[in-house]
Amino acid sequence: MSSLPRHCVVVGAGRMGSALAAALRAAGLDVSGPLRRGERCPQGTDCVLLCVPDAEIGKAAQDVAPGPLVGHVSGATTLAPLAPHEAFSLHPLMTVPATFEEAGAAIAGTTDRALDTARALAEALGMRTFEVADEDRAAYHAAASMAANYLVALEDAAERLLATTGASRELLVPLVRATVENWARDGARALTGPIARGDEQTVERQRAAVEERAPELLDLFDALANSTRELVA
Ligand SMILES: NC(=O)c1ccc[n+]([C@@H]2O[C@H](COP(=O)([O-])OP(=O)(O)OC[C@H]3O[C@@H](n4cnc5c(N)ncnc54)[C@H](OP(=O)(O)O)[C@@H]3O)[C@@H](O)[C@H]2O)c1
Repeated sequence: MSSLPRHCVVVGAGRMGSALAAALRAAGLDVSGPLRRGERCPQGTDCVLLCVPDAEIGKAAQDVAPGPLVGHVSGATTLAPLAPHEAFSLHPLMTVPATFEEAGAAIAGTTDRALDTARALAEALGMRTFEVADEDRAAYHAAASMAANYLVALEDAAERLLATTGASRELLVPLVRATVENWARDGARALTGPIARGDEQTVERQRAAVEERAPELLDLFDALANSTRELVA
């Protein structure tokens, strides 16, 4: 028997709630929502998926009447805030907007049935499921943030420095795409550039330019240069 819910209510009409509701619907599930704050869950549902900010999960769970399975989509959060519901979590290791197909999905459940439901929902979207222990959650989520959120912060810093030369951000895009593809294939062996070549003179000239043009980026530049040196050591 399929572990997919008969009817799924998505709560939270932000980035993830809107994307998941649309994707689950496109996968053929019967979905209500995404519900906005204050909208009531329809009766008779067997699954409620909370796509609200992490700090709001406990309160949103309390607003759900007992009965359905209740899940969240947070990477950093255990199932504790969902108690006393029979609960699951399904964290798409993905940023939105993007497709869920092929993305990882960290799943957990308070019962076998809840875990099976998390797995079935993820697989309906073409995601690859895996489990993360509670004590590993913060580290798991920190890794995800470094891979995605901090990459955006880093590219924004590069864009700001480049802007001082009059060149536009579009010129960085092919470089970033190729670098990500090379890293995906080769890991740290994808490293190129002056530090990989042992050319500290050039790194020193780069550093002086950053100090002059964008001094607010100097700590970031130094931290990344040191991390890069560790890669080649
Ligand atoms: N965005 C991503 O790429 C991503 C990736 C993986 C996992 N997630 C997870 O997805 C969850 C939501 O993140 P998000 O990025 O979608 O945040 P978001 O864009 O800020 O959206 C959160 C939404 O939840 C609504 N909300 C807050 N409290 C509510 C409540 N009690 N009842 C109903 N709606 C409520 C907010 O409404 P108001 O505007 O009225 O406050 C907002 O529409 C988080 O657990 C996050 O960790 C996100």
